[in-house]
Amino acid sequence: MSALANRISDRLEILTASQPVHVASFAEDVRHGLQALPRWLSPRYFYDDLGSTLFEAITRLPEYYLTRAETEILREYGWEIVRALDAPFEILELGSGSAVKTRLLIEETLRVQRWLRYCPIDISPEALHESASRLVSAFPNLSITAYAADYFAVLGTGDISLKHPVLALLLGSNIGNYEPVRARELLLALAATLRTGDGLLLGADLKKNPEALELAYNDPTGVTAAFNKNLLGRINREFDGDFDLQQFDHVARYDPGRGVVDSFLGSRRAQRVRIATLDMELDFDAGDRIHTESSYKFSVPDLGALGAASGFALKKTWFDAQHRFCVALFLRT
Ligand code: AVI
Repeated sequence: MSALANRISDRLEILTASQPVHVASFAEDVRHGLQALPRWLSPRYFYDDLGSTLFEAITRLPEYYLTRAETEILREYGWEIVRALDAPFEILELGSGSAVKTRLLIEETLRVQRWLRYCPIDISPEALHESASRLVSAFPNLSITAYAADYFAVLGTGDISLKHPVLALLLGSNIGNYEPVRARELLLALAATLRTGDGLLLGADLKKNPEALELAYNDPTGVTAAFNKNLLGRINREFDGDFDLQQFDHVARYDPGRGVVDSFLGSRRAQRVRIATLDMELDFDAGDRIHTESSYKFSVPDLGALGAASGFALKKTWFDAQHRFCVALFLRT
């Protein structure tokens, strides 16, 4: 990425790609995914303003334990996690979002070293600006170099300037939203940015009984259903579509063989949908599905194997009291 720098203060700089690498647009992906068989829509498009608000609500649902379990681990063991690496180090975070959980690690790190440089990468410049400004005002010994970019586009390009050692963060079960091949590609790109001995802290959801998992992705309040259907709402709003959201069901199924919760939108009846701006007409039979998201679950050996296939050795794992979620520390080999 050739970057445009925006220095906001002596401790905060936000870099944006001046020539963004081509990433498929929403329109291209809608055209492609809804004409494919089986039909799909990418989960990247969940997060418009409404979708981000719905996701925030999901994280507070009693059934969606993931965010609470990971926060519990960082609160309980943050002190041990930051002491598992040699200080001083810098923190690089992929997909920092609101950085609420990262705050716990920043606080702990500043107990073992006087200064910390934090380098978050996030696709949303607004989220970066907001979270980074809050962090620099809360921690006088913190400086931030933030990258407003798709992390696939910046990793391994040499554009991220780090003073090693580094602790890289990929939290929030975000790794679970990548198909296994893509998850390995992401970690390989990260490994190319890091050096031997640098750390990777990965937050991953654990394999467990299908009932608990399906409930986490299909809450009785209907928030996850609204989050999923918002993809159709976005198509209606942005491309003048006429999806009738009442005529689609949210479906979430755990496949224990593949270790993944698949989310779909299922057509309730035979129907024709038009998307005027994209000049598309789609016919659905009753029961036809659009795949919208994969949320992979892991065992500790799965995590070890993922690391080993992408340049990382598993060093230590931490769990919440109910053993539902895992925070794993890897070292770049
Ligand atoms: C962001 N990601 C890790 C969430 C997950 O658990 O796959 C997104 C989500 N989808 C439905 N509920 C939450």
